[in-house]
Amino acid sequence: MTVRIAPSLLSADFRTLGADIAMCEAGGADWIHVDVMDGRFVPSLSFGGKVIEAARRSTSKVVDVHLMVVEPEKYFDDFVKAGADVLTIHAEAAPHLDRQLSRIKELGCKAGVALNPATPLSAIEEIVHMLDLLLIMTVNPGYGGQTFIEYSVDKIERARFLLDQSGSTAVLEVDGGISRDTIARCWHAGADTFVAGNAVFGAADPQAEIGILRSLCADSA
Ligand code: DX5
Ligand code: ZN
Repeated sequence: MTVRIAPSLLSADFRTLGADIAMCEAGGADWIHVDVMDGRFVPSLSFGGKVIEAARRSTSKVVDVHLMVVEPEKYFDDFVKAGADVLTIHAEAAPHLDRQLSRIKELGCKAGVALNPATPLSAIEEIVHMLDLLLIMTVNPGYGGQTFIEYSVDKIERARFLLDQSGSTAVLEVDGGISRDTIARCWHAGADTFVAGNAVFGAADPQAEIGILRSLCADSA
């Protein structure tokens, strides 16, 4: 199974965003993860289209946009225009998942659904065939640098089973508290794509850390 490491720009230094993205690329990052927060779905505010555009102009890697917002459909057009390759919406914020996923795909973008730790997998059971990506949150969304929630490992295992059983080739991404201490367990459980904010940007050598995280998956394969 392919391992993808997706550094989260939330933990980057915004004075030198372009350089930080270039550093991620040099370190072998596969995707660049962009966290959009609206101060409503989650308590904090982060950024929107301008940062997606800046990321797009700084890299040819996949720009992976995680929408922690209510009424995500309001932003689809703008964010696709800004250069998003993947748009992931939260099941808790989007009661009409079928319609919203169809719309994202219509715009030529990959479509994902994220589940909070407390949201059961059954929330996506009926639309699993529509998913390009399933994001299992391993913290409560809203902030970088939080502690990994242990009980989510079991959910990752069940998500892998659900995808395989449905014949889905969707990416299985995990986000929150991913580090040297937690990544191998998520890999074993069946995740293939690993968002890492603090673990990368807080490392003594951020560029090397991307490779270290990747090797921990390969070693445990
Ligand atoms: C959390 C965001 C994450 C965050 C991860 O709400 O969705 O992408 O940046 O940060 P770390 O890896 O530091 O937990
Ligand atoms: Zn995220």
